[in-house]
Amino acid sequence: MNEHDSELIRQKLINQGYIETNSEKHAEIILINTCSVRKKAEEKAIQYSRQMKNKNKTVVMLGCLAQHKGQELLSISKADIVIGTRSYEKIIDILLDFEKKGTKRAICEDLGIFQLKRRKVREGEFSSYVNIQQGCDNFCTFCVVPYTRGRETSRNAYDILEEVIELEEQGIIEITLLGQNVDSYFDGKYDFSDLLKLLEDNTKYIKRIKFTSPNPRDMTMKVIKTISNSEKLVRWIHLPLQAGSNKILRKMNRGYTKEEYIYQALTIRDLIKDVSITTDIIVGFPYETEEDFYETLDVVKNVKYDGAYMFKYSKREGTPASLFKEQVDEETKGRRLRELIENVNNYIMERRKLMLNREYEVLIEGESKKDIGYSVGKTFNNISVVVKGFFKPGTIVKGIVKEIRGHTPVLNIA
Ligand code: 5AD
Ligand code: SF4
Repeated sequence: MNEHDSELIRQKLINQGYIETNSEKHAEIILINTCSVRKKAEEKAIQYSRQMKNKNKTVVMLGCLAQHKGQELLSISKADIVIGTRSYEKIIDILLDFEKKGTKRAICEDLGIFQLKRRKVREGEFSSYVNIQQGCDNFCTFCVVPYTRGRETSRNAYDILEEVIELEEQGIIEITLLGQNVDSYFDGKYDFSDLLKLLEDNTKYIKRIKFTSPNPRDMTMKVIKTISNSEKLVRWIHLPLQAGSNKILRKMNRGYTKEEYIYQALTIRDLIKDVSITTDIIVGFPYETEEDFYETLDVVKNVKYDGAYMFKYSKREGTPASLFKEQVDEETKGRRLRELIENVNNYIMERRKLMLNREYEVLIEGESKKDIGYSVGKTFNNISVVVKGFFKPGTIVKGIVKEIRGHTPVLNIA
């Protein structure tokens, strides 16, 4: 979501006549879009802002940290301007005002989901994010998002469709729908599954539709069936687990049990052919014992993820879990994380091997940075593969997987 916001802000500034430079030295204004999910990201952003102020740049702090800390961030980061996640609409006015008067300001008003009418697609761009919803009302006890992105708000389905059609007319063939909890999308008439159908049925050139992130507590059979019957909905579900122990899930306020989660994941595997399932897992949440941690490993064993983002629990100021008494020490967190990664990786490898000698259609994304002379792309179930040679980003190639290098399948074109 931050990446997408940055792109929209970048375009808004360019439309106003600002000139973009990727040379830090030549920039007069530095915009820093910040993340608050874990502490380290916050610290890095603050440090970078101070560094830029020492070089006499005008510094604008955007994003979740800006929303969460507001006025306080002006002094912590030494930035000139702080703009919260729902106030980007005003960015030009605020910048012009600063140029004129030089007054430092923090603006964190709720002006709704930030949009740009008729976004101009970059040369060669084939894939785009589309906001469908912003904010979250789930209040998981570890998470800062409800405080940084505000209450859950859904965009009107027809506005979304109009934006998608504008994008496909400019050459976009893949869209990723963005929301903190897409399964509870509701615009008063359309639910998430209806929205997916609407986009599938009314687009001409879009070949792939992805979304992130669903929440296991709100995912419906209707959505699972819509995906299983679709030619455009990518066969990939990111299903954040967070933890496997029912005790921890309750303390996290996740709203599902281990058993319900496993049942849902296996149903998804049953009903959506060749689906890939990825997840987010936190280790070392307060009160997590060795037994609780093994419950997480047990879910991993049952579901066999195709990919996972794994984190040590990071205490976030203002969240309920930050006040929980029994915090887990850093060393235990580190050890559990290493063990988890090893487990997850074994199953990823097992899943990748199933791809050997099978045919896949791959959407090329660009040159591989790791494998010189190879292109990188994604299968229809969102697995990254490499293909020998160079292909224009956005082209679809067909081939057979003949080798797995690390975790990456290598596609041979006949
Ligand atoms: N500590 C560690 N990980 C966190 N996440 C969210 N909040 C925290 C936290 N306080 C992780 C969750 C979420 C992902 C985006 O970041 O796993 O799904
Ligand atoms: Fe945070 Fe996701 Fe929970 Fe919302 S559902 S509070 S965004 S972890």
